Amino acid sequence: MCGIIGYIGKRKAVPVLLNGLHRLEYRGYDSAGIAVIEPVGNKIVIEKQVGKIKDLQEKLWDKRIDGHVGIGHSRWATHGEPSIENAHPHISQNGKFAIVHNGIIENYLELKKELEEKGYKFVSKTDTEVIAHLFEELYSGNIVETAVEVAKRLKGAYAVGVISSEEPDKLVAIKQGSPLIVGLGKDENFIASDIPAVLEYTKDFIVLDDGEIAVLTKDEVHVLDINGKPKEKKVLHVDWDVSVAEKAGYKHFMQKEIFEQPRALSDTIAGFNSNLNEELLNTLSNADRIYIIACGTSYHAGLVGKFWIEKFAKVPVEVDYASEFRYRDKVLTDKTVVFGISQSGETADTRFALLDAKKEGAKTVALVNVVGSSLSRESDHTLFTYSGPEIGVAATKTFTSQLAVLYLLALNLGKFRNIIDNRLFENLYESLLKVPSAIEEILKSDEKIKDIAYKYINAKDFLFLGRNINYPIALEGALKLKEISYIHAEGYPAGEMKHGPIALIDENLPVAVLAPIDKFYEKILSNIQEVKARKGKVISITTEGNKEIEKFSEDTIYIPKVEDVLYPFLTVIPLQLLSYHIATFLGKDVDQPRNLAKTVTVE
Ligand code: AGP
Repeated sequence: MCGIIGYIGKRKAVPVLLNGLHRLEYRGYDSAGIAVIEPVGNKIVIEKQVGKIKDLQEKLWDKRIDGHVGIGHSRWATHGEPSIENAHPHISQNGKFAIVHNGIIENYLELKKELEEKGYKFVSKTDTEVIAHLFEELYSGNIVETAVEVAKRLKGAYAVGVISSEEPDKLVAIKQGSPLIVGLGKDENFIASDIPAVLEYTKDFIVLDDGEIAVLTKDEVHVLDINGKPKEKKVLHVDWDVSVAEKAGYKHFMQKEIFEQPRALSDTIAGFNSNLNEELLNTLSNADRIYIIACGTSYHAGLVGKFWIEKFAKVPVEVDYASEFRYRDKVLTDKTVVFGISQSGETADTRFALLDAKKEGAKTVALVNVVGSSLSRESDHTLFTYSGPEIGVAATKTFTSQLAVLYLLALNLGKFRNIIDNRLFENLYESLLKVPSAIEEILKSDEKIKDIAYKYINAKDFLFLGRNINYPIALEGALKLKEISYIHAEGYPAGEMKHGPIALIDENLPVAVLAPIDKFYEKILSNIQEVKARKGKVISITTEGNKEIEKFSEDTIYIPKVEDVLYPFLTVIPLQLLSYHIATFLGKDVDQPRNLAKTVTVE
């Protein structure tokens, strides 16, 4: 949560900071601010605004700030409500150190007390302000040495950017727990919470590890360990185009990302083998159990993955919310595999659950989208989705790409364990290759789905039903709708409806039912009739050509025929579009829904 950016170089800092903040806004949008060192007199100028980056931009419109060194922040509030006082950057009492911070300082109350006793006056309710005052308190005449001392005093997860009027030719960053990258330019360097924030200026990056401090000048970057010793770091070159971080003619990032799914899926399928190796297959094959742990949409991908791994590879799989898994008394052995799925690779619940499991002796595997993310570096093995950056807070293209990796992993593991033979493997693999074009077909129904969405904009509640491998998609449909439209929604296994949720059904309840023609079709048709008999409004998602279902449905959305096991790739697409259109009709901010953040780095 929260996005941070920093710039030092030949350009004026303000446009670079604002530009980067726009791209980081998905990480938090309660308030925003910048701090820049003015060249004349080296004074630090700070501007902050409650609300979005555009509000900060408007505030800065007629101000002249010439400095070439600065830091910026977009906030997702944890300690203290969204307000100017609580917005970052925070400044030390003597006005000489400005700080931006992403994360949580766990020992801030203790530090605050200590600093207050020394006469420091706090103006905000944040945990971050202690860092600014600590820099002032511990300043030794050398900001790098001071950063080493400050880092030793802080507990918790944090990525910090600091500038000082005492040493105006330096930008210093500290990384512990929260993500931070350094962008390497010519006559300029950057820090940021993620790569797309500065992709416009460079394609060369250093990904900082926990316990590292980066010291940037206009011409050089040095990385030190927590004791101030220099470290060698690899430079990561990415060949993403800057357009991946732009809307490219779409109204919202979410819409663009829904439509990018055929491409994201093809790239992920193509990239799969490059991360697969015998050691990973051996580890999984010998596992007494695989625990898939994840949050939100990634958790739903894990639920689908369980079906495939158990079906094709016959290895037992449990799927758990990472936040629950971490604190329960589970049975882990050195043969247990804990498999974390996370788009960002930074979700605190998933990361810490995985790290704990590793300490307890389990093997760990990560499936992530973000290159260089913490989870990818902390696990024994890492698999990647190649979706490109996902900016909309609601996960869409990364979900279907996660499904592709899980499906391919299950097939490869099944072949490795001789559960499926080469011929079946080839058939199932070939079937997956047809999925991107099947998704293209569904996307052509966008206008029709938009019309259907309009009918339900006044709904107060929504029910999503699915069976077997499509049940997790019902959960995902409900999550998508509630997070972007704020309409209450529940996903349920269709067979379970009669045990309770059926009481909710009346003429005001829309019920989206995933009813592809597979071996559960007859059963789900009975469930549809049960809804219909109670006057619920049925929206069916079914295989093309199935006219019968129209008799029982208010609306029917068709998807192409594929192998039964592949339907989750398709049934989710109409649900993404339905949520998207309902939310946009309601005038909601679909890319930045209230109270949410793309990357949740707090527990
Ligand atoms: C998805 O639409 C949500 N915004 C959210 O549930 C998300 O999937 C969850 O926070 C997990 O994120 P991760 O995949 O980056 O770990």
